[in-house]
Amino acid sequence: MTLQMDIYKLIDKYDAPAPRYTSYPTANHFHEQVDGAAYEGWLANIQEDEPLSLYLHIPFCAKMCSYCGCHTKILPSYKPAADYVDHLLTEIDLVAARLARKQKSIQIQWGGGTPTYLSADDIERVFEKLRTHFDLQQDAELGMEIDPRTITQDKIKRLSALGVNRISFGVQDFDEKVQQAINRDQPYEQVKQVTQWARDAGINDINFDLMYGLPLQSRETIERTMEQAASLDPKRLAVFGYAHVPWFAKHQTKLEAFKMPDAHERYDQFMILSDALARHGYLPVGIDHFAKEDDALFTALKNGALHRNFQGYTTDTAQTMISFGATAISQTPGGFAQNTPLLKKYREAIENGKLPTARGLQIDNKDALRRAIIEKMMCYFETDYAALTESEQTDVADKLAAFEADGMIERTGTKVKIKDEAKIFTRLICTAFDAWFAPAENRHARAV
Ligand SMILES: C[S@@+](CC[C@H](N)C(=O)[O-])C[C@H]1O[C@@H](n2cnc3c(N)ncnc32)[C@H](O)[C@@H]1O
Repeated sequence: MTLQMDIYKLIDKYDAPAPRYTSYPTANHFHEQVDGAAYEGWLANIQEDEPLSLYLHIPFCAKMCSYCGCHTKILPSYKPAADYVDHLLTEIDLVAARLARKQKSIQIQWGGGTPTYLSADDIERVFEKLRTHFDLQQDAELGMEIDPRTITQDKIKRLSALGVNRISFGVQDFDEKVQQAINRDQPYEQVKQVTQWARDAGINDINFDLMYGLPLQSRETIERTMEQAASLDPKRLAVFGYAHVPWFAKHQTKLEAFKMPDAHERYDQFMILSDALARHGYLPVGIDHFAKEDDALFTALKNGALHRNFQGYTTDTAQTMISFGATAISQTPGGFAQNTPLLKKYREAIENGKLPTARGLQIDNKDALRRAIIEKMMCYFETDYAALTESEQTDVADKLAAFEADGMIERTGTKVKIKDEAKIFTRLICTAFDAWFAPAENRHARAV
């Protein structure tokens, strides 16, 4: 029997929760012993010539989407957001004061929530502050997540003038019934309009975020949505499987009133969307991205330079990402430091001149080795664990044995390759290399 014929059986067997591996070790292992002082130490060790990437988290949206699994909230008025920006500016000052010099920066990413919830003037204040403290390189990528429903043409023009050169629009799905179910009313014409505004403003690097596995989605609606998305010719698409994590995002329980696609249906939807996108010249990148051949992400894939970080697949080559804002996670060669998610605590720390770090994790050489092995697998579906010790290799081989017996991987010594048909199980297969993974305790979204 071929693997293709067995795929639904494999899904029944293997659809267990697994991390998304946007970091290794994954964020559920962060602990409170890592505080501002630890992070300060890591910042002080940043090398003189090391280029940095910067991230800003804006945890506000105009309206809550029922599927949302991100850190965001709905404010009663703009005032708390303006106040948040004041604190963000001070946080940038506090971090910069702990760096030995004005460091080069090659990327700035704005995520959320919805960064464009902020007024153009407030966004400009943040950019000015970053340019004061960091030496922003000429060819830096300045990316921003944008909600197509609330952006105006004037704001897009302002963003372009401020240097924003890559935009990610949240699209999710074009089907009216699906949009009603997820509390996100967003007609195709609206997305078409904002995409044109971005191009008119000179921003041609346009990404769309789409989703599958949402309530009321079917193979037919998915195919139609992909056709419509492709007709607008974005350079890159991220197509995320809906992660149902109601213990973290309580509002997601609303979706339980609908019939949800099961794991077999999710697999079918993913196959259909991959085929539809392939027909329009989109090439797969990693587990959930698709890019046109001239997009930088595909070039990175081709050149062996694709990476994965908290924002997903990236062209970013920086070893260090300094992140600002509530919940933001910074990554340095020494370890991870995450800011508090509580806005009150965030403000208090900053007003007291302290870094708002709430938790994190120090990384040792063993973690760094496994991180490289897992990142390679998540990006290229093949990896080599020869750098592990002999007993660690035996342990990994034991964990891989079931996948091998079921024909999902090919293993030659310490080299492992995931077969095409089994790529949907990549996150689960990566758990074999994860020394921190404990299946019983884990509260991740399901693997398929
Ligand atoms: C931080 S959100 C920003 C979107 C932007 N604020 C907007 O509304 O257009 C980034 C993307 O994460 C994805 N996302 C959010 N919640 C998700 C979930 N529970 N499962 C899978 N993907 C999710 C959506 O595709 C979304 O566009």
